[in-house]
Formats: sequence, C-alpha cells, structure tokens
Amino acid sequence: MSNSSEAELLHTFKGIPFTTRSSPELLKSLDTFDAREDDVLLVSYPKSGTHWLAGVITKLYNTQVTVTSPIEFGDISRLEELNKLSSKRIIPTHLDYNMLPPNFKNKKCKMIYISRNPKDTAVSMFHYYRDNPNLPTVDTWTAFFDLFLKGNVVCGSWFDHFLSWEEHEDEKNILFLFYEDMKKDLPKVVKEITLFLSLNVSDNDIQDICKKSSFSEMKKDTEKENSDPNHTVCALTSNRKLIFRKGAVGDWKNYFTPKQNIRFQEIFNEKMKLSKM
Ligand code: A3P
Repeated sequence: MSNSSEAELLHTFKGIPFTTRSSPELLKSLDTFDAREDDVLLVSYPKSGTHWLAGVITKLYNTQVTVTSPIEFGDISRLEELNKLSSKRIIPTHLDYNMLPPNFKNKKCKMIYISRNPKDTAVSMFHYYRDNPNLPTVDTWTAFFDLFLKGNVVCGSWFDHFLSWEEHEDEKNILFLFYEDMKKDLPKVVKEITLFLSLNVSDNDIQDICKKSSFSEMKKDTEKENSDPNHTVCALTSNRKLIFRKGAVGDWKNYFTPKQNIRFQEIFNEKMKLSKM
C-alpha cells in the first residue's frame, strides 16, 4: 500500500480508519443524531453479509422502506436527508458499538448485528480492497492479511468491532446473527428475524423470501438494475461483482497458508479470550 494513496483515501477518527468519504464533521455530529424509536439498524463489520441481510429485511417489510447508505458515509447533509424521510428507516451501519449515536441506544431501537467467520471476512475484504479504486491499493493477499490482523483497514479491527457489540448481545433490542447460520438454514434465521421485528409473515412467504434471497437470485437481480450507486447500500462501489463475489463458507482455506492460519488462530485466541464465541 503506498502512503500517498492511503493518506488520500483513509483518515482516522477516534482511532478507527474511515475512508475520506466519511467526513469528520459527519462522524462528529453522530453524537447528537436524532434517532426514531422505530428505526431498525443493520449492523456489521464490512463483508459480513450486510447486503444479504438488507435484501431479506426489505422483502420482509414488503412496503416502501428506505435502506439508506450507512450513516457514516458522505457529508453532514446525509443526516439532514435522513431526518426528512417520512418512511420507515432501515439504517445499515458499520459503526463500532461505542461510536453508535447514543440516541439509538437511549431509544432502544432494534438493531441486528450480523457476523461472519473473520477468516472468510478477511478474504472477502481482500477482494473488495484489491478491485476497488476507492480503497488503498493492496497487491497481495499476504500484505492484506497483515493489515487485517493489525486492524489497519476500514472500520478497524474485526476483533474490536465484534467484541464491542458482543458485550451487548443480551440486550432485548439487539439480535445477533451469523452468516454461517443463514447459509445453513435461511428460513430458520428469517423466522427469528420476523419474531424479533414483530412482523407477521407466513411460513410460505418466508420460503418465498428465502428463495429470492439466495446468492444467485440476488446477484441476478442486481445485475438487472442500472448502475445508479444509490441502488445498493454500498457507498464505496457500484461494482456489484465486488458485493456478490462467491457467497461461500470456508473460502479462507483457499488463501490462508498453514503458517497464516496458526498466526491468525493465536491472535484470535488471545483477543477473544473473554468472548463467548
Ligand atoms: P464473498 O466476498 O465471500 O463472496 P457485505 O454485504 O457485508 O459487503 O458482504 C459481502 C459478502 O456477502 C460477499 O462475500 C458476498 O458474496 C456475500 N453475499 C452477498 N449476498 C449473499 C447471499 N444472498 N448469500 C450468500 N452470500 C452473500
């Protein structure tokens, strides 16, 4: 990664790397952001299945729902736009729990946190970085592996992010989901989401939503859309191939060397020693 491109593309706020598309003014103003009690937050570390979850949620509401770009992207005018919205707000965000606007916590807004095996997350993020001109250049998997472990990537350390949210896992307004569970039994997870959001959806409709939310269907759908970047919840690219890449569990095995796996495992065990994971 060259320093000049890193300086142009990333900045640090409260110790966490953000892209320069997240203006410091916007990040500062999050402390006073006005949440609504019926806001629903879709929270994730990047590359954990945010689009998949957002796809399911929009189908579940089956009505006009505004899935805005994450609150941390853009300039301060984004918050004004959000304030003016009359429809229900589904707000995807990659924010660490500690950086989340306090009003979401005070008003006990519903929040769904989706997590994924960090090894697969790292591999997914490597491809996202490598082919995305809005992120610093990474030439090799080995170079990216080091950056990921140091937390020197957008949104910072996977471990810090996960732990900041896991600490609140038992709060009634927070639902914890895993990408791998969605792969294993999507209808079961979707049912869980409907109960959490108090939505009355029949089992038939759940089956239908799951069919339409498969990797191949979602990939096909987005390819049909035009290239308007507002169509996706991803603020950093309108290249759908970077969002719907492989959609698999265990792709890390194709990238991690045995030595990298041992190093990752050691760091994982150390950082996650107080985690229930
Ligand atoms: P891969 O790069 O491993 O393929 P995010 O939406 O948080 O950016 O996450 C993107 C990852 O979720 C990508 O992983 C993408 O393929 C995967 N994904 C997106 N939609 C999916 C779906 N319907 N089923 C399974 N995986 C999906």
